Amino acid sequence: MLCTSDENGKFMNELDIADKILGLLIGGHDTASSACTFVVKYLAEIPEIYEGVYKEQMEIAKSKANGELLNWDDIQKMKYSWNVACEVLRVASPLQGAFREAIVDFMFNGFYIPKGWKLYWSADSTHKNPEFFPEPNKFDPSRFEGSGPTPCTFVPFGGGPRICPGKEYARLEILVFMHHLVKRFKWEKVIVDEKIVVDPMPVPAKGLPVKLYPHKP
Ligand code: HEM
Repeated sequence: MLCTSDENGKFMNELDIADKILGLLIGGHDTASSACTFVVKYLAEIPEIYEGVYKEQMEIAKSKANGELLNWDDIQKMKYSWNVACEVLRVASPLQGAFREAIVDFMFNGFYIPKGWKLYWSADSTHKNPEFFPEPNKFDPSRFEGSGPTPCTFVPFGGGPRICPGKEYARLEILVFMHHLVKRFKWEKVIVDEKIVVDPMPVPAKGLPVKLYPHKP
């Protein structure tokens, strides 16, 4: 970006460069950390889901030699854990949505949208639509079993040409985090009814304090 000019030989100005760097830092860090936070929250709140993740991760842990690192095949085995992570991304989508600009005039649901208008697509309201996700407020990782949700209804990473390029890296990051956490600890929330604030990503208002209980050796 710093070394490349556009077709007229013009380089990016400093403000645009700063904007891109911030976008990458926030988009690449705060999103995945919000997702990991909600994994911790839901595993604390729903013991049977913790147990399912624990069982799957311990099977993988036991198949490894002492000190052997996780590899790509191990990640592929984390099917239940990924269903849990997807359900986290559904109920607490780190990016609630984003903007697009209409490039042509069109009609949608009886509304006329003129070319040039800015439109907001909302991951959060799509994920809470009971037509596609019955009992949308229920935390249920089985929604992702088999062929999973209807195409284009589960969009935590967006879709189309501008879909998140960090999607697979984020998957790896969240699963590796889950593996190491459940392998060592069980935990409980300190504040049972802690509020969630969205600023601009969802986060527990007090930072989700937890009590950690290491597994017995
Ligand atoms: C759970 C984690 C993540 C979520 C939920 C997420 C979500 C999203 C979404 C919804 C978009 C599309 C925005 C739009 O359509 O306008 C996006 C774009 C983007 N994401 Fe992610 N993201 C995550 C992790 C990451 C990571 C780890 C990186 C980089 C290391 C990253 C880098 C980017 C970049 C550079 C874009 C802009 C792509 C473009 O405009 O062409 N994201 N992300």
